[in-house]
Amino acid sequence: MNGPDAARPLLAVARVSKAFVEGPRPIRALHDVSFQVADGEFVCLLGPSGSGKSTLLRIAGGLIAPDQGTVIFDGRPLTEPQPDIGFVFQSTNLMPWRTVLQNVLLPLEIQRGALDDAHTQRALELLRVVGLEGFERAYPKHLSGGMAQRVVLARTLIQQPKLLLMDEPFGALDALTRERMNLELLRVHSMQAATVLMVTHSITEAVFLADRVIILSERPGRIVAETAIDLARPREIGMTAGARYGELAMEVRRYVGNAVAQAGA
Ligand SMILES: Nc1ncnc2c1ncn2[C@@H]1O[C@H](COP(=O)(O)OP(=O)(O)OP(=O)(O)O)[C@@H](O)[C@H]1O
Ligand SMILES: [Mg+2]
Repeated sequence: MNGPDAARPLLAVARVSKAFVEGPRPIRALHDVSFQVADGEFVCLLGPSGSGKSTLLRIAGGLIAPDQGTVIFDGRPLTEPQPDIGFVFQSTNLMPWRTVLQNVLLPLEIQRGALDDAHTQRALELLRVVGLEGFERAYPKHLSGGMAQRVVLARTLIQQPKLLLMDEPFGALDALTRERMNLELLRVHSMQAATVLMVTHSITEAVFLADRVIILSERPGRIVAETAIDLARPREIGMTAGARYGELAMEVRRYVGNAVAQAGA
C-alpha cells in the first residue's frame, strides 16, 4: 500500500473555534484548532472528556459550523454534510423494523431512490467483511452491541466515503470484540483506501490504528501534541507486544497526562 499523500490533504481544519451559548452559560468547546488529514491517512483524536472531540468531528463533517475558522474538504470549503463523508457514532441508530441487510442498504435507498442487484451484492459483501455473514435477515434486536456496531460500519462503508469520521465507535464493546473490530477497520482502511479520523479514549487503540495521534487539551480543546506512529503496516496484534509500540504508547500517555495536568494547574 502507498503511504498517505501529505501533499494533498483531504481535510484541512484551520483555526477553528466553537462555543455553545444555548445553555445557562456559554461553553467554549474548541479554541483555535488547526490540523490536516492527508488522503489515505488514519488519524486518531485523543483528549479528556469534554475537550470538544465530538464537536470537532461534527465540524469536520459539516454537521455544525465553527464560530471561527474554516474546514476545507477535498479542495472545497465545507458548509454542509457530504455523501463522501461517512459517520459512525458511538450509539447505533439502526432501524428496528428493518433487517440487517435492509439497514445496510438504507443510505443507497435514500440517495438513489431505487436499488438494484449490484447494490444488494455489495451490501452482502460488506456484511461478510465485517463478519456478519448469516445475519443478513436478522433484526437489530437480535444482535449484540458489537454486531450492531458492525452493521453501522457496513452501512457507512456502502457509501464508499472518502472520509470516515468515527466517534468512539468501539467504546461500548468488550475487549475481544473491540480488537476484532480494530483489525476489520484496518482491513477496510487498506482495501478501500479510506481516510479515517477517529475519536477514541483508548491510548493503545489509537497507537495500534493510527498513522498519527492528535491530543487535545481540556476544555476549550486545543491541540497540545501530536505523535507520528511509525509502526509498519499491515498492523498485527503481535506488534502490541513490541518495544516500539510500548514507547509510542508511553509517549502518547505522557501527552494526555500533561493535557490534564496543565488544565488543572
Ligand atoms: N449542542 C451542545 N450544546 C451545548 N453545549 C454543548 C453541545 N455539544 C457539546 N457541548 C459542550 O461542549 C463541550 C465539548 O463537548 P464534546 O461532546 O465535544 O466533548 P468530547 O470531547 O466529545 O467529550 P467526551 O469524551 O465525553 O465524549 C462540553 O462541555 C459539552 O457540554
Ligand atoms: Mg464525545
